[in-house]
Amino acid sequence: MEDCSSVILSGELAVLPTETVYGLCALACDPLAISKIFKLKGRPSSNPLIAHILNLSWLNAISEPSPVAFKLGEFFWPGPLTIVLPKKNLIPLNLSAGLPTVAIRSPAHHAFRKVLELVNQPIAAPSANLSNRVSPTTMEHVIQNFGKHCPPIYDGGPCEHGLESTVLDLSERHPCILRPGPISLPEIENALGMKILDQPIKHSLDKISQKSPGNSKIHYAPQTPVRLFKSLTHMIDQQETMINQVVLLPSLEKSNEFTVHGITTLLLSKDGNPRSIAKNLYHVLQKADQLGKEKMNICLLSGTEALIPAINDRLVRASNK
Ligand code: TXA
Ligand code: MG
Repeated sequence: MEDCSSVILSGELAVLPTETVYGLCALACDPLAISKIFKLKGRPSSNPLIAHILNLSWLNAISEPSPVAFKLGEFFWPGPLTIVLPKKNLIPLNLSAGLPTVAIRSPAHHAFRKVLELVNQPIAAPSANLSNRVSPTTMEHVIQNFGKHCPPIYDGGPCEHGLESTVLDLSERHPCILRPGPISLPEIENALGMKILDQPIKHSLDKISQKSPGNSKIHYAPQTPVRLFKSLTHMIDQQETMINQVVLLPSLEKSNEFTVHGITTLLLSKDGNPRSIAKNLYHVLQKADQLGKEKMNICLLSGTEALIPAINDRLVRASNK
């Protein structure tokens, strides 16, 4: 951790685990260090980064927080909720991609928090993957992305949630979800005692990408073409078309219904629990990709559990090319 913090303090990049995915880190207030993140990821300069802070007392230095922002921070931080607020000048324009706002969260992972404490200033960190590729949830996955250009990494093992944070816009009159994630819409509504907008349901994805440029339709894509089924039953019914292909199953339960020979099946979880599926999703997508098959078959999840909209969001994106 000390090594990573001295690397970051010197204006270079380091990779740290968070409770969601691994982050490619640099000092948030150093425009030169920020430009190194964009370059290494191959990220368009129009896609802003998240600034990570140790606690609520750091909010005022970089943003114009509203009472709602403080309430959410008190409730959910440290944790996987990112809030978008009007930014202050300390945040360089290349971090915010020229927007007048900044996305902020306080991560829960002890290693990331220790480094925040040591550098004593906000750290910018997008997911530590090449732009438009699957986010990394293990150290090995980060190394596969960056190869010999990989910055120093702190290995924190597999990430707890496995899906990127929920992004909530607080810069407009009505709070609105820009990216569904581990903290669900009902949880946020309960904490605030008010309705918030779930833009992904009410508007087209194109509108979201204007508001949150990183949320383009082809985000999170593996290299193997993905065929998405609306349910497990539909996927099972179509198995004759999947010879020599790979199938990602949500649980063990129905695996014996794949009776056609020549299909490779991978499990997203044993028990179908959405928490396990979320945790394993990117790792299994990555594994399926490495098989080099002609196609990957996956299905949307059904159910009322809070994590399901976030998981289905990533499945839809993985299938968009
Ligand atoms: O869980 C996470 O959020 C991880 C860990 C490392 O913290 N980070 C992450 O960062 O997923 P990234 O860069 O891969 O995704 C950040 C998302 C993008 O969709 C980006 O467009 C959006 O947040 N975003 C950042 N700043 C924004 C802003 N000012 N307004 C709207 N959306 C913003
Ligand atoms: Mg990302």
